[in-house]
Amino acid sequence: MNKLPRFEWNESLKVGVASIDTQHRELVQAVNDLADAIEMGQGTRAIKQLLSFMKYYAEWHFAHEETVAAKHQCPMAEVNQRAHGQFVQIFQGLEQRYRASQADEKVALEIHQRLADWLVGHILRVDKQIGDHVCLQKCQSAL
Ligand SMILES: [Fe+2]
Ligand SMILES: [Fe+2]
Repeated sequence: MNKLPRFEWNESLKVGVASIDTQHRELVQAVNDLADAIEMGQGTRAIKQLLSFMKYYAEWHFAHEETVAAKHQCPMAEVNQRAHGQFVQIFQGLEQRYRASQADEKVALEIHQRLADWLVGHILRVDKQIGDHVCLQKCQSAL
């Protein structure tokens, strides 16, 4: 099997809000763990467990981020919330497909790819704007 890509956590993914950055790091780690599990052929159980963890953790993170965005009246709050809702739907669909596929490796690879793409894309396109807004507000209130 080809080696799956791993994420390097780097400055470009940082949004500048400590709690959000810590949670994003955990999510990136979970996607990397999923790649390990698939590559090592750890089988259905490990992959299902990882997917359950990611679902739980992502939903918990989304709730936190939405609270922060609302508190600071971020203009991107609604866009962010909608994107989170879409992710939950996409994730559910992927998880169901994996379960129904009898743990097909190709499906696992596709899940990994889509989770990775979504997560990085969302952080860069949406979460960063929230971070910028929160940081700006904090700076202004400190003046
Ligand atoms: Fe977000
Ligand atoms: Fe986020």
